Amino acid sequence: MRLERTSFARRLAGYQHAVKLPARPVVEGRLLRMVGLTLEAEGLSAALGSRCLVINEDRHSPVRVEAEVMGFAGTRTFLMPVGSLAGIAPGARVVPLADSGRLPMGMGMLGRVLDGAGNALDGKGRMRAEDWVPMEAPAINPLRRHPIDEPLDVGIRSINGLLTVGRGQRLGLFAGTGVGKSVLLGMMTRFTQADIIVVGLIGERGREVKEFIEQILGEEGLKRSVVVASPADEAPLMRLRAAQYCTRIAEYFRDKGKNVLLLMDSLTRFAQAQREIALAIGEPPATKGYPPSVFAKLPALVERAGNAEQGGGSITAFYTVLSEGDDQQDPIADAARGVLDGHFVLSRRLAEEGHYPAIDIEASISRVMPHVVSADHLRDAQRFKRLWSRYQQSRDLISVGAYVPGGDPETDLAIAKQQQMSHYLRQGLDDSEEQLEQNSAQLAAVFR
Ligand SMILES: Nc1ncnc2c1ncn2[C@@H]1O[C@H](COP(=O)(O)OP(=O)(O)OP(=O)(O)O)[C@@H](O)[C@H]1O
Ligand SMILES: [Mg+2]
Repeated sequence: MRLERTSFARRLAGYQHAVKLPARPVVEGRLLRMVGLTLEAEGLSAALGSRCLVINEDRHSPVRVEAEVMGFAGTRTFLMPVGSLAGIAPGARVVPLADSGRLPMGMGMLGRVLDGAGNALDGKGRMRAEDWVPMEAPAINPLRRHPIDEPLDVGIRSINGLLTVGRGQRLGLFAGTGVGKSVLLGMMTRFTQADIIVVGLIGERGREVKEFIEQILGEEGLKRSVVVASPADEAPLMRLRAAQYCTRIAEYFRDKGKNVLLLMDSLTRFAQAQREIALAIGEPPATKGYPPSVFAKLPALVERAGNAEQGGGSITAFYTVLSEGDDQQDPIADAARGVLDGHFVLSRRLAEEGHYPAIDIEASISRVMPHVVSADHLRDAQRFKRLWSRYQQSRDLISVGAYVPGGDPETDLAIAKQQQMSHYLRQGLDDSEEQLEQNSAQLAAVFR
């Protein structure tokens, strides 16, 4: 089915094309005020979202900082800087730029670590760009997207078997700090069957960026990946742009027919960057300190992942979501759960027991699994989950010896299979022999 524009709308669009509007004059302004992170300029004529240069020429070496128009009130324009504002003084020129900025793209990105504007961070020199694309990608008509109907082998046994991922699915990885999110993402980067992997490290500690690239991703993982990093000390606008840039890179390769894996760590930090910006320009906070625009930006970012039209490429995306104190009610966690096609919860209890990857299979769900696996596989997975959950519920009784064998046949079976199930769920860091069909057969073997 194709949605066509109504003839009236078409006529109106044609009319708007026919009218020649005079070109908007470029009128630069002057910097008036700076409050917190927000710049206030007067006399500037620039549209919302457009880029400007703030130029301070009073010094021996002029300072230029890029800023984006975020809002206006009367003749005043509010801007947010992309970088540090050191050296900018009152009365600095604010000059609107002609276009909204283009980003470098190309196969030369593979194996590189870039910042949110496409500059190299890895000291390997400038990236060779094949294309320069606008920040905004054309949206895909939702009715023409290819449905998710094919499983994706991510190389993690417990996910392949019990929470099968579909090509083009968008998933959240929900966890508190230090329970193994980065390690799990790193394993997926190395083991997943994808043409290209795009990793966005948004708002994490600077030390972690280096650690992730050198230790977790390793040389082998980096070879087929592009890493975009914007650590916590960068301007919030830069962190937002980095998240959009890595999504744009994934879209670029998807539109070339590639199957892309997009890993973003973390979606929470993206939301927090948007919160900083929105609060700074005066938007009132609504839900637990988050202004409404945060909840509009989340789906706008996440919706860009997914399958292309029939016959095109795909973006399968994993977004990590911090649930502090393992609180699943956090507003960002809640909003993310609503826009994603499934969530994997990492449990602190399992991590403390040394059970890695610490995926809590009772609390996790892959919404597309029934569409991408066989009926037998689905039945085995449900049976596994039921028995695992039964064991977890009776754990305390069993450990103090209060459970009498024979009391309940299902619990007896759960106890008998416990070792095997636990073995199935655990996987070492370098254990890369896993394959989807095998994992499905191993799952069936647990009950034999
Ligand atoms: N599969 C695994 N096998 C063995 N140890 C693991 C595994 N996954 C994680 N760990 C251990 O857990 C620690 C924390 O993992 P990781 O850095 O991935 O957590 P995180 O959730 O990303 O933390 P943060 O919130 O600080 O970013 C690792 O240093 C490692 O010791
Ligand atoms: Mg981490």
